[in-house]
Amino acid sequence: MKQEVIISFNRFEHWNELPSSDQELVKRAYEVSKTAYAPYSKFHVGASLRLSNKEIITGSNQENIAYPSGLCAERVALFYTGAIHPLEQIETLCVVAEGDLLPIDKILSPCGACRQVMLETEVRQKKSYRIILVSQNGVTIVFDSAVDLLPLAFGITD
Ligand code: THU
Repeated sequence: MKQEVIISFNRFEHWNELPSSDQELVKRAYEVSKTAYAPYSKFHVGASLRLSNKEIITGSNQENIAYPSGLCAERVALFYTGAIHPLEQIETLCVVAEGDLLPIDKILSPCGACRQVMLETEVRQKKSYRIILVSQNGVTIVFDSAVDLLPLAFGITD
């Protein structure tokens, strides 16, 4: 029997069409992408997230000469949040990037490891959160839940 998994997201031609609170997250993500330590990929990624107390947490990718030791921007922001604000819920996560690694019209899409962490964060806080992904040409897609980014996930969902 053939079965299908359907995921959904909203697409915007440019992030300046988003509500102002989301635009603020995009701006903060671009700001923090400047702190990326990315001498190997030269791909500067910024992540920002808004907590239910309205505080914004940010993170950038941190690379290492022993490549797998580095960490993506999303996980820097998510793990920092887990350490410092373990009881706050995340409302929205935003990821942006700058660099030649991807063509400017290619959707910025988190790696599998980040998706797994994004999903477990959602399960842990018992509430879905929005995920905003911004391509280098401004095209933006918005998911309502981390489940959409990792259907058939390992372990922790139905
Ligand atoms: N990277 C992120 O920080 N987030 C993503 O969503 C994709 C990739 C980082 C990892 C590495 O430092 C660089 O971008 C190139 O893959």
